[in-house]
Amino acid sequence: MALAAGIAAGISIVVCRSALTVREYDLPTEGVERPFTAVCVTDLHGREFGRDNEKLLAEIRARKPDVIFSLGDLISRSAGEKEVARMCDFLRALREIAPVYASFGNHEEDYTALSGKDLRPLIRDTGAILLDEECCVADIAGSRICLGGTLGHLWPDGRSREEFLSSPEYRLMERMQASGLPTVVLSHRPDTIIFEKAYENWDIDLFLSGHTHGGLIRLPLIGGLYAPRQGIFPRYDRGYFPIGRTRLLISGGFAGYGPFPRIFNRPEICVLRITPAEGSSHG
Ligand SMILES: [Fe+2]
Repeated sequence: MALAAGIAAGISIVVCRSALTVREYDLPTEGVERPFTAVCVTDLHGREFGRDNEKLLAEIRARKPDVIFSLGDLISRSAGEKEVARMCDFLRALREIAPVYASFGNHEEDYTALSGKDLRPLIRDTGAILLDEECCVADIAGSRICLGGTLGHLWPDGRSREEFLSSPEYRLMERMQASGLPTVVLSHRPDTIIFEKAYENWDIDLFLSGHTHGGLIRLPLIGGLYAPRQGIFPRYDRGYFPIGRTRLLISGGFAGYGPFPRIFNRPEICVLRITPAEGSSHG
């Protein structure tokens, strides 16, 4: 039994290095005028699927997305120039498929802290629209959406009330809620909204996250084994979670954690079909 499980895990490690899966979600959303398709990419950590990510790009292209959301950790914190250049090439190639909106992950933040290099001009130069603690109104296939990006936490997390209320992420959410439009937040870490019942305080239509890598190792009937800050057997490992006044969708992303491989957890392309919610209007 243990031997069989070991062999299956070994095979899975190899499979999960190159085989992609596509996970699709239907998300009826109030205030959306026309249906559109979004593809989410996250947690690539410098990996390639096919030469110059050709295989990954072909799969994304086949979904015919109206928009692409890049949710962060496309590079790792220790990235060299080559990995950064590869990220830019990838964003440029995505930009040829559809408009790209990008937010940072904790690894991009760490990369800048460690190297002193600012990724923002490089990302903007690819044609992707970077949402770094900011928001914009996007017209996606005829639907006006308020899109934002944050790496912050929408709960105090040890800060005084004053510090929290004046934080960039708090102000960003206030602006987005006041937009009167459907609201989508690219927030690499689900931590942004899951702790201290933050989800009960924010009237946002959708949070899109990665960061968990689907729990890294997927156990039958149990789900993911580990996610940062949530610990072992994380509740929010990947998938769709309607919570409080909002909804959270976590993509399992593409890579493992450093030397730790994914097991029974194929790298995923996350496809969202966002449609008008029937019989309701936004507000
Ligand atoms: Fe991350």
